[in-house]
Parts: sequence; C-alpha cells; structure tokens
Amino acid sequence: MTLYKIAPSILSADFAQLGIQVKKAIEHGADQIHIDVMDGRFVPNISMGALVVSALRPHTTLPLDVHLMIVEPERHIESFAKAGADIITVHLEASPNLHRTLQYIRDLGVKSGVAINPHTPADHIAEVLHMVDNIIVMTVNPGFGGQAFLPEMMPKVTLLRERLQGRNVDITVDGGIDDETIAVAKDAGANVFVAGSAIFNAPEGIGQALSRLKSAIG
Ligand code: DX5
Ligand code: ZN
Repeated sequence: MTLYKIAPSILSADFAQLGIQVKKAIEHGADQIHIDVMDGRFVPNISMGALVVSALRPHTTLPLDVHLMIVEPERHIESFAKAGADIITVHLEASPNLHRTLQYIRDLGVKSGVAINPHTPADHIAEVLHMVDNIIVMTVNPGFGGQAFLPEMMPKVTLLRERLQGRNVDITVDGGIDDETIAVAKDAGANVFVAGSAIFNAPEGIGQALSRLKSAIG
C-alpha cells in the first residue's frame, strides 16, 4: 500500500508567524514539513538556513524535510543534520560528486534525497537510486513559490516509479501542487506532495486547504 504524504512548504508561510502557521498545518494533518533552502546562487533567491530548522525542531515530531537549492551542498549538510533535519535532499545539478554526497548524508544518520530540475532526464539518477530515500522531481524551475505546474514532468515520475521496482522510496513532486495537479501527480506515481502557496496563501485558510488536498488524493 502506498503511503501518501502532504508536505507543506514553509516558503509561502508568513515568517512573522512561522510557529503558529506550522502548528496549524500539523493540527490539520500535514505529514512532514518541507523547508526550502536557497542561496542566491543555485537559484536567484535567498530564503532560509539551518537556524530555521533548529527553531522548528522542538515544535514537532513530524519529519523535517530539507530541500537544499544551494551550490556545494556538501559544505552545509552537517549543520542541517545537527539542526535536526530528518531528510536532506540535494540537487543533482549542484552535486558533481553526488554518490559521495548521498553517502555522507546517510552516514550522518539522515535520510538522503536527490532532486532533479525540469531539464534533467530521470536517467541521470539511475546509478544512485539504490542510495536514496527520497527523489524530488521538480514540477517547476526551482527558486520561487507560486509557479505553474509542469505536467510534462509526469513521465519522469512514472519512469522512476517503475525503476524503483516496488522499493519503498518516496517520489516527491515539488512546485505548482494544488487540488487538481495533486491528482495528476498521484496517478503518475508520486507519493509525497509539496505545496506552498496552495496551503499558506489559501483564502480559505491553512486547515481547509490541507483538507482539500487530502481529499483530492482520496
Ligand atoms: C520551489 C520550491 C518549492 C516551493 C513550492 O523552488 O522548491 O518547494 O515552495 O511552492 P508552490 O507550492 O507555491 O509552487
Ligand atoms: Zn522545495
């Protein structure tokens, strides 16, 4: 049985009320908290760092899922692990020594993940599938919340799900997830759904937005 998980991305939260908003998301059934780290180099924006992970850590037992959109991620992995990250995902495009980096994440006792940008073929991670707990198939170009979902990424999700041959590895879709696109991604084979603006900018509120996403995947 597939375990479906919703991962609210705090990138779209009100940072002045971060604790309150995360608490609301948890109360309304969030499965893990997605933390988008941007360095102004791999992507144009600068967002947040390990301090935010350590600030949230005492407030939840849910997995903290750290998405590193940074160059040279290996330089910062240890500080995110120490801050309390449960899953650390690095970008293939930022990792010339990806195999070593994934091993390093696991050696620190953290679940490892690899993310691929829209232009990157799924085949490019074939040789590391045995060493990841999470794969993020980007469904927007990384760097900003609120962009439109790219449906042409779905064949990559399906191909990766086949390649995993039933192994218990999360396939995460990240970007443009709302109560319509979530069903498309689920049908393609994804089981973790990151949603930022659809949750934190929803006019009906965080709780209602989460319930709608949950009911859209049954
Ligand atoms: C994009 C980030 C996403 C982002 C998603 O670079 O990796 O996690 O927060 O935001 P929405 O759900 O608004 O597309
Ligand atoms: Zn993300």
